[in-house]
Amino acid sequence: MSITAVAYPNIALIKYWGKRDETFNLPATGSLSMTLDVAPTRTTVTLAPGADDDVATWRGEAMSGDDLTRVRSFLDLVRELAGSRVRAVVETANEIPTGAGLASSASGFAALAAAASGAYGLDLTERDLSRLARRGSGSAARSVFGALVQWHAGRDDASSYAEPLPASALELALVVAVLSPGRKPVGSREAMRRTAATSPFFPAWVASVPTELEAMRRAIADADFGAVGELAEANALRMHATMLGAVPPVRYWNADTVAALDLVAQLRTDGLSAYATMDAGPNVKVLCRPQDAGAVAERFTAAFEDVNLLIAGPGPGVRIEGTR
Ligand code: DP6
Repeated sequence: MSITAVAYPNIALIKYWGKRDETFNLPATGSLSMTLDVAPTRTTVTLAPGADDDVATWRGEAMSGDDLTRVRSFLDLVRELAGSRVRAVVETANEIPTGAGLASSASGFAALAAAASGAYGLDLTERDLSRLARRGSGSAARSVFGALVQWHAGRDDASSYAEPLPASALELALVVAVLSPGRKPVGSREAMRRTAATSPFFPAWVASVPTELEAMRRAIADADFGAVGELAEANALRMHATMLGAVPPVRYWNADTVAALDLVAQLRTDGLSAYATMDAGPNVKVLCRPQDAGAVAERFTAAFEDVNLLIAGPGPGVRIEGTR
């Protein structure tokens, strides 16, 4: 049995930063994101009866170390649900243009959850697929669904899942500006853990996110682009402020990050409605209306010599592409 699934990355407008429980990957707060229509991950899971262990490849190269361990632990969860001991072969590839700066764990674990649950014969609802994907990587719970998605923090494993937001007339584009490709100094998992354990600002972050989520839901329902942008930018800055308070501090920003934030502010001064968001890295993503995306991209090209740009719109949820 062999199943191929495709999933897309998502960018949070209200971020997930900090866990309440590491075993079940329960978040400290809810979060809200847009699934993108670029850079999908395609994953095939093939059952391998008689094999001693799981094998995984990424773009044809054997995976090893922590990456392989995460895949195997995830397959163990699926096997437990399916009552199976059969090992599997996992082949995965990303259509991410080099150094796109889009986290691949969200699309990666959403695709793996769909392909593996199918290959092991689990017939999951979308909600249960979201719960399963969450165990691989929190943000993957959101990539199960398309367009605008909210992940409910929940109280336990059963109640922590993502679901699509009600349809809205809001039209969004995201310009991903990659100024600094390359590995980050601290992985997001460790940075999150450190922030929750040591930052005196973390309790304030946890206390303020529910209000921000409500305001964001309202702004989306009202298709109020300006309010969505302001809330998203403020939330990203708060997330980074929280990590700056960790011991030792987590600082993903570099000089280009600040220059890009200045440029986004300048775009607004010039009458272009654009807002910045950032994840666990130095790169800046710009939220704008679809008709402004080209102009935003041009301004970044003019300001930065080596910038790599990607324009994204809302994309689909995870889908099964093939069964053999
Ligand atoms: C900054 O989902 O990668 O992108 O659950 O530990 O795998 P784990 O974390 P992950 O963290 C994403 C953090 C973020 C914000 C967000 O996507 O909400």
